[in-house]
Amino acid sequence: MGYSALKIALIFACYAVQLSGKIGVVLSVDQVKDYFPEERDGLLQLRDFINSTSNLHGNWTGPPCYKNDSRWTGIACLNGHVTDLILEGIQITGSLPQTPFLRNITFLTKLSLRNNFIRGPLPNLTNLLYLELVLLSQNRFSGSIPLTYINLPRLKKLELQQNSLTGSIPPFDQPTLTMLNVSYNHLTGRIPSNQVLSRFPESSYDHNSALCGQPLGTPCKAHPPPRTADVSSNGETKETLEIWRFSLIAASAVLVSLSVMLGFIYYYRKLHGKDAKGDQSGEGYVGTEEKKMYWSENTDDPERMLKLEFFDKRRQVFDSHELLRAKAKVMGKGKLGTTYKAVLESGHAVVVKRLRDTNAMSNREFVRQMQLLGNARHENLAEIISFHYSKEEQLVIYEFIPYGSLFELLHENRGAGRVPLNWTARLSIIKDTAKGLAYLHQSLPDHRVPHGNIKSSNVLIQRDGQNHQSKLTDFGLLPFLTSRKSMGKLAVGKSPEFSLGRQLTYKADVYCFGIILLEVITGKNPGEISRANEGMFDDLSDWVRSVVNSDRLTDVLDVEILSARKEHDVMFILVEMALECTDMMPEKRPNMSEVLRRIEEMEQVNKQNGDNITCIL
Ligand SMILES: *[C@@H]1O[C@H](CO)[C@@H](O)[C@H](O)[C@H]1NC(C)=O
Ligand SMILES: *[C@@H]1O[C@H](CO)[C@@H](O)[C@H](O)[C@H]1NC(C)=O
Ligand SMILES: *[C@@H]1O[C@H](CO)[C@@H](O)[C@H](O)[C@H]1NC(C)=O
Ligand SMILES: *[C@@H]1O[C@H](CO)[C@@H](O)[C@H](O)[C@H]1NC(C)=O
Ligand SMILES: *[C@@H]1O[C@H](CO)[C@@H](O)[C@H](O)[C@H]1NC(C)=O
Ligand SMILES: *[C@@H]1O[C@H](CO)[C@@H](O)[C@H](O)[C@H]1NC(C)=O
Repeated sequence: MGYSALKIALIFACYAVQLSGKIGVVLSVDQVKDYFPEERDGLLQLRDFINSTSNLHGNWTGPPCYKNDSRWTGIACLNGHVTDLILEGIQITGSLPQTPFLRNITFLTKLSLRNNFIRGPLPNLTNLLYLELVLLSQNRFSGSIPLTYINLPRLKKLELQQNSLTGSIPPFDQPTLTMLNVSYNHLTGRIPSNQVLSRFPESSYDHNSALCGQPLGTPCKAHPPPRTADVSSNGETKETLEIWRFSLIAASAVLVSLSVMLGFIYYYRKLHGKDAKGDQSGEGYVGTEEKKMYWSENTDDPERMLKLEFFDKRRQVFDSHELLRAKAKVMGKGKLGTTYKAVLESGHAVVVKRLRDTNAMSNREFVRQMQLLGNARHENLAEIISFHYSKEEQLVIYEFIPYGSLFELLHENRGAGRVPLNWTARLSIIKDTAKGLAYLHQSLPDHRVPHGNIKSSNVLIQRDGQNHQSKLTDFGLLPFLTSRKSMGKLAVGKSPEFSLGRQLTYKADVYCFGIILLEVITGKNPGEISRANEGMFDDLSDWVRSVVNSDRLTDVLDVEILSARKEHDVMFILVEMALECTDMMPEKRPNMSEVLRRIEEMEQVNKQNGDNITCIL
């Protein structure tokens, strides 16, 4: 049965490859039509809404396209689809229709309304995935530049100069974007400093109310305070330095146990002492030079002993004193607490997760839970070295994995100058993730949701030359959460069953795995898909389904893996499987051991057939 599913998937994949052979505008396989009525409807909405010196009413009649030709002024067509809408210098007055009238003109590549008198907001360009040229300069457009323009994947030229636009410049990062002009508007704020936007000259940005940053000569005022930006030499990026607020918490704990009066004096002194010390040790520090920072200021205080439990005596290379004196950097602030990288005096680094909101758990329960998790050892799980429980403070200490997360590998530095993540690496990361998850599902059968927070930022990467190995972290913490609301903040909170108010099962992890799989294949950030498409899609799987249904299959693939043509069939099989994993109905999703089996089987078939999977279609 598994085999026939695979065969169907293969046929599906071959079909996809055949389709994708047609470059450029990929059409559905049926007959090329003369024109598409829903495209005509969109244009008529425009025609009937605007006034101009051009007699559109007299001219835009009949079909807009006749295959590759058009008799409508300003319109060009290809295979029956409208591709160009160009109405320049015809004194269009008023605003554009407030409906998303362009929405159904799916294959639009050029939109120019240059040099008119159009007022009101810029047009809604959602859904126009083929748009390359957007020329709207010399009008009276007002309002802000829609954030959604960031998601026009093929945008080459964006001309918005000489309008009355306000707000800030969205962080455009399309590598395709080679020309941008937003000069002569009322834009404000910092020009996002990314690879793409810094390509353009000053004249792309000047004559605005209050833009600042490069390439303009105007520096931005320093707010928010620049307590960030530590780019260390070994490739770890953008971690924020921050002092542990450990002593404060400890101080308040002491407060509770002392009499109010004594406590007050103590607290007062403590605060005082802290202030005085803060001045010398550079607290609230501003600058780019890294200074020594500790997660506990008063490191010699004998009161502050942490009892650490170790799982593996060989790992017991530090004690609580050393841990308290470790240099700390914030790696991330998550729903479950803050994660620090702590570098011990020996140079050894560990990851410390300081849990939040777990107070409902008793010492016994906590220890039992940690023991369960600590004993779950697998090459694809980040090892839990130790933990600490006290009423005020719960810490989990993990091994440090230096190469960053899958999230960073996939989404950081998109644009020119990025090192692409190739397909071989992606496939091995996927397989490791499936292995780690399948192991967790086997070894924690009592956990309703064994991982609970599986997402690309919790897939850590270890690298050995060209080989990527992934290790999952942040697993098994769901039982620490008490409220449904806080559960909703974990990755499983994005599953359809959670939003329907249903009980979560291990299939919620399978859903999250499916999303990661799609993230790896599409290169899209699942956190942005809904915002980017103005809420049209609930999640990444929704978007992929919509693209797959419209037959533009290769459009789902990340541009960075498009050139691995021989692997496309494997990619499509995985897309198919990811869609099964993200099925609305948890019962219909495969379980993790099945998923892993299918990945391995697929690898096998692929090896046997060499490069040639022959299509019998
Ligand atoms: C519209 O105008 C163009 C030229 O301006 C002309 O070639 C075309 O025939 C006109 N179309 C119709 C339907 O009148
Ligand atoms: C339309 O143009 C495309 C691309 O130039 C071409 O492949 C196609 O055959 C043309 N269709 C017709 C009906 O002429
Ligand atoms: C177009 O012109 C007509 C008549 O001059 C006017 O009533 C209408 O409001 C104008 N429409 C726009 C959008 O300016
Ligand atoms: C843009 O159009 C899409 C549908 O095509 C719609 O969901 C979205 O709300 C629109 N955005 C705005 C700002 O009107
Ligand atoms: C787009 O086409 C669909 C289906 O033909 C139709 O229901 C919808 O109203 C159209 N949207 C717009 C904005 O014209
Ligand atoms: C941007 O537009 C302004 C005004 O039209 C023009 O002076 C400037 O040269 C343009 N800059 C670029 C880079 O196109």
